[in-house]
Amino acid sequence: MEQIDYKAFVVREENGTFHRKIEQKSTTELPDHDVLIQVKYAALNYKDALSSNGHKGITRNYPHTPGVDACGIVVSSKTDDFEPGEKVIVTSYDFGMNTSGGFQEYIKVPATWPVKLPKGMSLEEAMILGTGGFTAALSLYKMEQNGQCPEMGPVLVTGSTGGVGSMAVCILAEQGYDVIAASGKKEAHAYLHELGAKEIISREEVNDQSGRPLLRSKWAGAIDTVGDNTLATCIKACGRNGSIAVCGLVQSADLNTSVYPFILNGVNVLGIETAETPRKIRNAIWELLANQWKPKKLDAMKKIISLDELDEHIQVMLQGKSKGRVLVKF
Ligand SMILES: NC(=O)c1ccc[n+]([C@@H]2O[C@H](COP(=O)([O-])OP(=O)(O)OC[C@H]3O[C@@H](n4cnc5c(N)ncnc54)[C@H](OP(=O)(O)O)[C@@H]3O)[C@@H](O)[C@H]2O)c1
Repeated sequence: MEQIDYKAFVVREENGTFHRKIEQKSTTELPDHDVLIQVKYAALNYKDALSSNGHKGITRNYPHTPGVDACGIVVSSKTDDFEPGEKVIVTSYDFGMNTSGGFQEYIKVPATWPVKLPKGMSLEEAMILGTGGFTAALSLYKMEQNGQCPEMGPVLVTGSTGGVGSMAVCILAEQGYDVIAASGKKEAHAYLHELGAKEIISREEVNDQSGRPLLRSKWAGAIDTVGDNTLATCIKACGRNGSIAVCGLVQSADLNTSVYPFILNGVNVLGIETAETPRKIRNAIWELLANQWKPKKLDAMKKIISLDELDEHIQVMLQGKSKGRVLVKF
């Protein structure tokens, strides 16, 4: 295989501080994995922002190229699973964490990681969806497995203008749910209504300070990307037998709750872990996203940038100010 020189976003650690810049790399520097892929799009996720900022819980060793979401064209494969020219999506597992990720023009990954682009989905759509869409869809999938349905009442989405949150609002609304979107961004109300939110509330309304173990029921279920007291409030104000999908920790990883919502109201707390989702469920979720659950408003959620603009968007995300899905186009 001939050597190809290309551009990559690289994070380097120097004396405990982290520097990010675009560097020239060669395919010979990529890990010795099975499938070489020319990246067409990558997408920015919160995990990438943390990795780019030197979060050792995500990336142990630097220099490193983050990017947990990428898609593109197979250049070569050491196994028969993929043909050169095939379109593939790469997300999850260790991709972009301790394995060189999607913010570069070429990637190499184990043959067990790529998913063939499902029929009915373009590469751009796959990256607008990406881990954010996958996480939102997996949340609804598990909630419905536990009995959630539109007739039970509205579903709350926290961090609703973020990547996971925007997708959750859209997918829930299009599947017939009344969506309550909690957001800290007053200026994003029109955006959230466009995605399908029926009601918009402030972050403070999902941050109960009463100390009471149970609250009047305000929603029938929730997709929470925030954690901490926001998650505790989601649980305390959830109606009987509703489900709370626990996705994220942008507020913090803490959770302080009594057992009353579980033993008196039958509330289900569902852990959402996308990286190691079993293959069968992974394929089922991507099929849903390509067909019945494909959001009609994908374009409203996308912002397409170049690799040179990535650093400024990472800063925006770390300040909790990002909106929708940011895509790097190569
Ligand atoms: N479980 C999994 O497998 C999985 C997969 C993907 C992501 N995640 C996690 O899900 C979370 C969201 O990821 P993302 O990519 O959607 O991030 P994102 O695009 O940055 O969205 C996060 C949103 O949360 C809200 N927010 C930010 N800081 C906040 C704070 N201090 N308190 C309350 N709300 C705050 C903001 O929305 P508003 O301004 O609208 O409130 C922000 O847009 C992250 O913790 C990420 O690690 C988990």
